[in-house]
Amino acid sequence: MKDLFDKIYKDKGPLGKWADVAEGYFVFPKLEGPISNRMKFNGKEVITWSVNDYLGLANDPAVREVDAQAAATYGSAYPMGARMMSGHTDLHEQLENELADFVYKEAAYLLNFGYQGMVSTIDALVSKNDVIVYDVDAHACIIDGVRLHMGQRFTYKHNDLESIEKNLSRATKMAEKTGGGILLISEGVFGMRGEQGKLKEIVALKKKYNFRLFVDDAHGFGTLGKTGAGAGQEQGVQDDIDVYFATFAKSLASTGAFIAADKEIMDYLKYNLRSQMFAKSLQMQLVVGALKRLDMMRSSTKYKDKLWENVHALQGGLRERGFDLGTTQSCVTPVYLKGSVPEAMALVKDLRENYGVFTSIVVYPVIPKGLILLRLIPTASHTMEDIELTLKAFSGIRERLENGTYKRLSASVAAAFAD
Ligand SMILES: Cc1ncc(COP(=O)(O)O)c(C=O)c1O
Repeated sequence: MKDLFDKIYKDKGPLGKWADVAEGYFVFPKLEGPISNRMKFNGKEVITWSVNDYLGLANDPAVREVDAQAAATYGSAYPMGARMMSGHTDLHEQLENELADFVYKEAAYLLNFGYQGMVSTIDALVSKNDVIVYDVDAHACIIDGVRLHMGQRFTYKHNDLESIEKNLSRATKMAEKTGGGILLISEGVFGMRGEQGKLKEIVALKKKYNFRLFVDDAHGFGTLGKTGAGAGQEQGVQDDIDVYFATFAKSLASTGAFIAADKEIMDYLKYNLRSQMFAKSLQMQLVVGALKRLDMMRSSTKYKDKLWENVHALQGGLRERGFDLGTTQSCVTPVYLKGSVPEAMALVKDLRENYGVFTSIVVYPVIPKGLILLRLIPTASHTMEDIELTLKAFSGIRERLENGTYKRLSASVAAAFAD
């Protein structure tokens, strides 16, 4: 009989196999100093394009002050226990009410982490006779939530209306047989490529098919829509989203998340979300901190306005220089280049070491072989100087990519990182 660990000794997994050459630099890099447009990497200042602090609130002095005071008042333990048992407070309720108002829903409920909250919400919404229909490029937390489902599930081609309709039709036939209902799950904004989910078109299909829509709006919350209520508001269909999800890990620059829906649905969920029933309540520091951030988001559009000024300058500048940004419709700024994984490593090293530009890098198997995706996240804290320097850097790296410099360098990159 095999030892359970045999497979682990043999195969570190699709990303783990790169650990020897990549860890500490391409993966698990350490960005140091206060979260801002400039941070330190390997002891050198870099322009940070890989932190989802969209509204620039993470290091705002007023936010830091409230966080510090809340920590002094409550410590990091209070309240102890799950919400249902002993971890409930007025401030948790206040935050839920304010979040519900902000996203135009009747009620909201806090989640400790977006990831496990999403898993748990999917689990609570469906029973085995129900059918789930979801985008093939869905975030891992949606995929894991669907994995818990004991009934049927269908994936549709990414943001493809024909495929959505085909799968809704299959799901309808299936649900008629099982006597269940249909849950369709989309993201408000797909975080890797930046496209918005086709929410308006999906909502229009409600006339033809009977399903409920659950939207993960991690990247849309605070960044899209007139008041920042997200992708649903941007597309004029916020009311037709049956269950809305957003995390605090992006625009609110913190930890935690929430779901929002009609009161009757939320009353059900708060008694049936296993991740909240059997886990400690969101700590008070985070609740107080989120109230402050939400208040700032609500009382001024200056953060969102500055964010979009930067998004337009960055995306416009890259497009003017002929870069391929795919089909982004959000702040998420993907730059697609052609090259191999070793070339991508040489390119990113050049970008970080010689141009002081820190971006995230995505390669095969996450995107097709032969493509390199550099993902930039503009925030309200970036300056026009950051953008100009970055545009220059991108022109520089493209020239070197095209004249074969990275192909030549790439042979030595892996060796250098193994040292
Ligand atoms: C689309 C999406 N959903 C959910 C999550 C998980 O949220 P959290 O970081 O709060 O666990 C993330 C990442 O933060 C995300 O990008």
